[in-house]
Amino acid sequence: MSSIIQPNLTLSSDMKYSCSPLKIIAGSVITIYLTFILFLSNNELNFLPSNLLSPLLVKLPSSISSRPSENSPTEIKHLMFGLLGSAKAWEHRYSYIESWWRPNITRGYLYLDKNPSPEFHPWPKSSPPLKISDDISKLLRETKHVAPVMVRMVHAIYEIFREDHEGVRWFVMGDDDSIFFVDNWVDVLGRYDHTKYFYIGGQSETILSNYYYSFNQGFGGAGFALSYPLAKALANNMEGCLRRYPYLNSADLITMSCIADLGVSHTAQKGIHQIDLKNNISGFLSSHPQAPLLSLHHFDSVDPIFPSKTRSDSTNHLMKAANFDQTRLLQQTICYNRNTKWSFSISWGYSAHIYEKIIPRCILQTPIETFRPWVSTSQKPHYMFNVRLESEDSCESPHIFYLDEVKKMSRSNEIVTSYVRAAPRGLSSCSNHSADGINKIKVFSPATKLIETGRSECCEITSNVHGTDMAEIKIRPCMMDEVIA
Ligand SMILES: *[C@@H]1O[C@H](CO)[C@@H](O)[C@H](O)[C@H]1NC(C)=O
Ligand SMILES: *[C@@H]1O[C@H](CO)[C@@H](O)[C@H](O)[C@H]1NC(C)=O
Ligand SMILES: *[C@@H]1O[C@H](CO)[C@@H](O)[C@H](O)[C@H]1NC(C)=O
Repeated sequence: MSSIIQPNLTLSSDMKYSCSPLKIIAGSVITIYLTFILFLSNNELNFLPSNLLSPLLVKLPSSISSRPSENSPTEIKHLMFGLLGSAKAWEHRYSYIESWWRPNITRGYLYLDKNPSPEFHPWPKSSPPLKISDDISKLLRETKHVAPVMVRMVHAIYEIFREDHEGVRWFVMGDDDSIFFVDNWVDVLGRYDHTKYFYIGGQSETILSNYYYSFNQGFGGAGFALSYPLAKALANNMEGCLRRYPYLNSADLITMSCIADLGVSHTAQKGIHQIDLKNNISGFLSSHPQAPLLSLHHFDSVDPIFPSKTRSDSTNHLMKAANFDQTRLLQQTICYNRNTKWSFSISWGYSAHIYEKIIPRCILQTPIETFRPWVSTSQKPHYMFNVRLESEDSCESPHIFYLDEVKKMSRSNEIVTSYVRAAPRGLSSCSNHSADGINKIKVFSPATKLIETGRSECCEITSNVHGTDMAEIKIRPCMMDEVIA
């Protein structure tokens, strides 16, 4: 507790020197507080528990993500999506949204800048209901805002809150070139208390993007969630917000600034992916952090995620696995074959790798840098995570297999995902056990939701991989104290 005292003292001594608006606000809070204490001391002081007398000793909430304090578990109907797009880009982006949008089940709207071209009339039922963004030209003229498009995006928070939102607990804002994994959003948001103030988003993968914008902002393309009270406060103060920051040229920065003005700061959530990466993100998706996959942004600017498929076919292909089990999607499971000394790394629903060597888990968890940073500089480090370089060394370079089929086996209550070799590896063998002959990997996983335990699942190679063209792997819960090595 003593560590809490220090920052408070520092803050008050700073105030002597600065005369920013912050000081005035902070100062008035202190004054109100003192008045409160003085008032109390004359009256009810004796009846109060002693810890109320000193603000520094008041117990902090033990966990900010404590269980919701009221109501039932969070369900899909409690989420309202506000999706931002432009009429121009919609022609080639609708397939992204339609891959995950569930008509009449997912709630929310798509906001376009203007009416889309005639081919989209009547508006398809497979797309989110269409809204045309409010005309805010008067406000833009008055504020001489530097980035009108950005203002439209922030204003959408006000516009969506204006819609019928009965029972809504979370407003999730995102872009039209993102894919959302809605069941995972429901599970993850359900861990936070929607009756409190929460601004939940993801950081950029590229260090410089976070630096240029803010380490404290939710990168909106990938989506961020506002709890009901926060969305309400933002919506009610929207005009003031937009008038305060006419010089900010990013919707995310404006949103973050206005949320900060409400006293709320950003909660970084893993699994929300801005994909501020370029080219080939296969290495990134094959070593996903151990957290539910929530979104993938920038699908227009990265290579198709499956070789020899288009972008929209790739999206639908990934959604095939997602439709069977979102909880395991891209979750990395690692196991070893002792006879052949091979390492298997499965990124469920996406890829499988075989290395002809036993490589520790902590290394296999590190993405292979098949991609480049969004902001290019010669200076490293580029990313918010460690990377491994692509290697021509036959002991470091994996044999790579991509998702082929997904099936449910009703009898055993399992899901079978199979992964096929994309191309020959083209390297000599690392040991006297070559994996060149393996063309397919079948992975059996439980047809039940992955319950998060803070630990990954374990796997076992259940077939004899020597001299055959297929490997079979079973994913199962790890045993107590089991070491994956
Ligand atoms: C959604 O609901 C409306 C009205 O209840 C119905 O007319 C429409 O066919 C439904 N759409 C889908 C795709 O189920
Ligand atoms: C991306 O890189 C991976 C790993 O090298 C490779 O298997 C895949 O074919 C590449 N994808 C594309 C679209 O080039
Ligand atoms: C493979 O090589 C290892 C030594 O690297 C040796 O011990 C083993 O007997 C070899 N196995 C076969 C089947 O040749």
